[in-house]
Amino acid sequence: MVRVVSVLGLVMFSVALLILSLISYVSIKKDFIFTAPKYANAGGPRMYMFHAGFRSQLAMKFLDPAFTSLNTALNENLQESSNWRFNRSAYAELSKEIAQHIDVPHNFTLTKNSVRVGQLMHYDYSSHKYVFSIGENLRSLLPDASPVLNKRYNTCAVVGNSGILTGSRCGPEIDKYDFVFRCNFAPTEVFRRDVGRRTNLTTFNPSILEKYYNNLLTIQDRNNFFLSLKKLDGAILWIPAFFFHTSATVTRTLVDFFVEHKGQLKVQLAWPGNIMQYVNRYWKTKQLSPKRLSTGILMFTLASSLCEQVHLYGFWPFGWDPNTGKELPYHYYDKKGTKFTTKWQESHQLPTEFKLLFKMHADGVLKLSLSHCA
Ligand SMILES: *[C@@H]1O[C@H](CO)[C@@H](O)[C@H](O)[C@H]1NC(C)=O
Ligand SMILES: *[C@@H]1O[C@H](CO)[C@@H](O)[C@H](O)[C@H]1NC(C)=O
Ligand SMILES: *[C@@H]1O[C@H](CO)[C@@H](O)[C@H](O)[C@H]1NC(C)=O
Repeated sequence: MVRVVSVLGLVMFSVALLILSLISYVSIKKDFIFTAPKYANAGGPRMYMFHAGFRSQLAMKFLDPAFTSLNTALNENLQESSNWRFNRSAYAELSKEIAQHIDVPHNFTLTKNSVRVGQLMHYDYSSHKYVFSIGENLRSLLPDASPVLNKRYNTCAVVGNSGILTGSRCGPEIDKYDFVFRCNFAPTEVFRRDVGRRTNLTTFNPSILEKYYNNLLTIQDRNNFFLSLKKLDGAILWIPAFFFHTSATVTRTLVDFFVEHKGQLKVQLAWPGNIMQYVNRYWKTKQLSPKRLSTGILMFTLASSLCEQVHLYGFWPFGWDPNTGKELPYHYYDKKGTKFTTKWQESHQLPTEFKLLFKMHADGVLKLSLSHCA
């Protein structure tokens, strides 16, 4: 008798567990793409990592009705990407709207004349109590004038770092643009077949020094960093040093390094000030107001004021390839086997951002490249 009861108990427990896990699967999937994800609990992101890949694509298809229309549009887009048509007047309208919120050429960088030594800078994403005092060294690195003042480029590519670029063979296509924006100092050389080799601007969050160059603590680290910069030649290194107070220490290291190597590098430095309030204000008019906009959409925002036409590559914040259904890493440069990360979901709302960009693509305002290149 006791045995029967315990077996029964075990069966009931298993059934309950199965039901519970099904429920969590459904609710997680529903949150995933088509509503702004709110992962207040730390368990959320970790859980749906298990479901990334083809299974999640299937799950979304069947569980979220809102997915069907976008999925159909996506499929059509992937099959007939040559059908995309640029809508010049719609783009002109967007550029005008952005220009009304953001003075891109001036917001692009601080200049020698726009700051004074001893001035206290605040941070866009940190508490107001944190300050950074502008020193003589930093001021000496600021350009005399914005490098994009009165500049106009015909075609621009903004290259995001999504794993969707892996195997895309889009490199030669990307290299044809007049101006190529890249994000976060992403490596190109090894991946040139997929992402191209040209760079006209790349963003450089000072924390990269910490992550990839060991804070420049050894001669080897300094040489590595110097060589990486050397390859950028005349490109613009866009350094958002006043977004997070956590970059204060590395910013000082970076400033010292540039002062020491003055005249040895051709890379042009640009140091944006506290500009995110203006950028945020614009995207809020499009119902996009995450805690943090992605660097990619920030680059698109700048590009829209400098370029006659903007195409996006590597903008795809999901863990599966829409062409093949196969699992994808988060970045194209992640080591093989790296799991799709969702650690940024809470602050970035990348799926919501993607949905908006995809709509703009459908409207002919920008071109979002998601398929492999010929
Ligand atoms: C281009 O966009 C405008 C809206 O800005 C719209 O009125 C027009 O119909 C679009 N043209 C085409 C060919 O889709
Ligand atoms: C950035 O652009 C805004 C809006 O045009 C302007 O008010 C602000 O002064 C600019 N800031 C800088 C640093 O150029
Ligand atoms: C962009 O960079 C390439 C080299 O990477 C360079 O040849 C080209 O002149 C640059 N274009 C502009 C507009 O600066």
